[in-house]
Amino acid sequence: MSRHFRVWRGDSSGGEIRDYDVDVNDGEVVLDIIHRIQATQAPDLACRWNCKAGKCGSCSMEINGKPRLGCMTRMSTFEESETVTITPLRAFPVIRDLVTDVSFNYTKARETPAFSPPEGLAPGEYRMQQIDVERSQEFRKCIECFLCQNTCHVVRDHEENKEAFSGPRSFIRAAELDMHPLDARSDRKEYAQANQGLGYCNITKCCSEVCPEHIKITDNAIIPLKERVVDRRYDPLVWLGRKIFRRDQLAEAPPAGVAPDAHLDVGEMLSTQSGGPSPFGDDQTFPLTDITYQHPAPGSPSREG
Ligand code: SF4
Ligand code: SF4
Ligand code: FES
Repeated sequence: MSRHFRVWRGDSSGGEIRDYDVDVNDGEVVLDIIHRIQATQAPDLACRWNCKAGKCGSCSMEINGKPRLGCMTRMSTFEESETVTITPLRAFPVIRDLVTDVSFNYTKARETPAFSPPEGLAPGEYRMQQIDVERSQEFRKCIECFLCQNTCHVVRDHEENKEAFSGPRSFIRAAELDMHPLDARSDRKEYAQANQGLGYCNITKCCSEVCPEHIKITDNAIIPLKERVVDRRYDPLVWLGRKIFRRDQLAEAPPAGVAPDAHLDVGEMLSTQSGGPSPFGDDQTFPLTDITYQHPAPGSPSREG
């Protein structure tokens, strides 16, 4: 059956949405359709992909305005009469057609302090129990598709925030290392607050909603990191210390970005960061007000839709 598609074509100098009518077979995904367009109508259509199994994280794109993996979005998700519009990730510069320059994410990855080995142990001597790694193991499922980075309103329409804000993918890495039983650094949450822009996140959970690995980015990584930034301020022993000692006797200063009352900087928390019109056509609504993504129930046969 022939169905109607609209695909953004262009490069860094500009582009347009083009129309394609393409045959669709039962069981196909959006990436199949892109391949068919390449094979039959537009051999120069650029699209990044690799595994076609939801594991390499290459085929990230926006489908009817929602950040998704092309290879994991079944055509049965859409009504038969529905036009499917495919555009590049919006938060990153376009190279050509559906291919964007995602190097921002690698730059931020390099800025995250690496695992710090425990003193006195050589590689091969590290020992951990499963119970100690269970909490952070969820974050190792990340396939680096960067859909979460693309969705986050802090950078989606705000290029100027990219320098100060590392994004949800970096936050799960920071949380993973912070929860690592053998990591020797004890300042990961303070580092995330001071150097990775953790305070810019106002826990809207959009990143969690689009994660194809169903990582609970906000609940399990960002919120625990934020709590740990401030929890020493609420620690009853610290509270007692503040009662006993004079202010000038207390060596501990609040971490950067945390006010003396232990609240995060209000200016960061109240940032509205609304989205602008889509650069890829006027048929989309941003920011994504209609995300109603539900984590599938355990055992659910479908991971998308
Ligand atoms: S929860 Fe935080 S990191 Fe995730 S999309 Fe919202 S603001 Fe961005
Ligand atoms: S956390 Fe999820 S959405 Fe973000 S890069 Fe990893 S797999 Fe993709
Ligand atoms: S092609 Fe690998 S995740 Fe889609």
